[in-house]
Amino acid sequence: MTNNLVTLAYITAIVLFILSLGGLSNQETAKRGNLYGIVGMVLAISATAFSAGLTNYVALVGVLVPGVVIGALMASRVEMTAMPELVAMLHSFVGLAAVLVGVGNYLQPEAALVGAEETIHLLEIYIGVFIGAVTFTGSVVAFGKLKAIISSKPLTLPGRHLLNIGLLVGTVALGVVFMGAAGTAGLPALLGMCGLAGLLGIHLVAAIGGADMPVVISMLNSYSGWAAAAAGFMLSNDLLIVTGALVGSSGAILSIIMCRAMNRSFLSVILGGFGNAPAAKGGSSAPGGEATSTTAAETVELLTQANSVIITPGYGMAVAQAQHAVADITKILRDRGTQVRFGIHPVAGRLPGHMNVLLAEANVPYDIVLEMDEINEDFSETDVVLVIGANDTVNPSALEDPTSPIAGMPVLEVWQAQNVVVMKRSLSVGYAGVDNPLFYKENTQMLFGDAKANVSAILAEMQKSKVPAMASA
Ligand code: TAP
Repeated sequence: MTNNLVTLAYITAIVLFILSLGGLSNQETAKRGNLYGIVGMVLAISATAFSAGLTNYVALVGVLVPGVVIGALMASRVEMTAMPELVAMLHSFVGLAAVLVGVGNYLQPEAALVGAEETIHLLEIYIGVFIGAVTFTGSVVAFGKLKAIISSKPLTLPGRHLLNIGLLVGTVALGVVFMGAAGTAGLPALLGMCGLAGLLGIHLVAAIGGADMPVVISMLNSYSGWAAAAAGFMLSNDLLIVTGALVGSSGAILSIIMCRAMNRSFLSVILGGFGNAPAAKGGSSAPGGEATSTTAAETVELLTQANSVIITPGYGMAVAQAQHAVADITKILRDRGTQVRFGIHPVAGRLPGHMNVLLAEANVPYDIVLEMDEINEDFSETDVVLVIGANDTVNPSALEDPTSPIAGMPVLEVWQAQNVVVMKRSLSVGYAGVDNPLFYKENTQMLFGDAKANVSAILAEMQKSKVPAMASA
């Protein structure tokens, strides 16, 4: 393939990646967005494979084929709830690749550079390896925390900020040695920095509490993008630079959005030590009173009398795989003329867009699935709210108890509705480990049990009852 054709293929791939990101920002266009991304990636790999500089096809096929097979198997087998772990693991690969590319590029430069060009190239290698090493070890620790191999509690070593600063000072000092070394004599400094950066990655992520891991994952996503961009500079590959920058910036934007959704400071995430709030139960006061339990039949009665219903799903709906039965209930209610909408918290479930994906899979119409900000004001005018397997995202203590570990986190204000039915198996805490006063409010009724069993029971009851249709949806 001529250089011009490769450049053309790269530009097309870049455009496709941008279109892909645009498509993924909206549920209706997400499928198309994915398709653009796949086509762009196939084009990018093909153009690279057939570019003039590449001759060792045995090595290329030797890594590409097992990579494709393992990737396809892993992606097809992963549970939605385990997606963050998979993403963390994939980020670690990007980080490791950036380290290996950097070291390889240092030991065997493509062209002999001198003067300013050499300095810039060495800087690219040094920075690329640094970001790669932080991303690699940080992602491995994030994977361990999400998989519960490592404790999800924040590791708060005494003087941890000083430790971080010390590691950064060591990195700069080794950088001076590296830049001043002739030929490949700077390798020990490069590897030494790699070790320090690896420690920094471990320490930064270990210091973050489990409840704040979503932001960490998206930050690592951003880091992995910058690591890829750095590798692009090292390899003089424009496509890798642009793609890395797209991933880096979109990951950073997503992190900011999630920080807002969890009321966390973006800077504290970058600096580490984030989520260091006491991960214990409740705030200053554990919720008092008694929870009122209800039955599927009583819930059907409430739903039958309601004019407006909002459903707020959470992690429990994903675990129970209750989305299809929820979609069926929605259809019946809408067919009867009841207004039914979904309220989605930005960090409901275990990954961004988790609930949207499940509801789309169950063919819930997109236009009734609303973001938290779009629906929060409507709860006070709503007859019934069904909270299905959500807990932290509907916890009033976030707004009412300044001592709560999740104080300040914006939540779905479900308790403002006339009636709230909470479906979960017990009164136990959610992901953040915080007690939930919602369960004890006067207008709340607890429908205990597995979400799928309960939603199916409600559905069966509704299908039995012969309520005449008032309007069609
Ligand atoms: P959570 O606060 O995690 O609560 C989920 C609830 O579901 C649990 O309290 C559990 O209560 C219930 N549950 C579990 N299995 C169930 C089943 N089979 N049937 C019925 N209920 C079941 O959920 P949430 O409101 O979605 O909040 C998400 C939390 O995860 C937030 O703290 C967020 O920060 C964190 N997080 C989010 C993400 C992203 S990006 N979305 C990623 C990682 C972490 P029982 O045990 O009593 O049933």
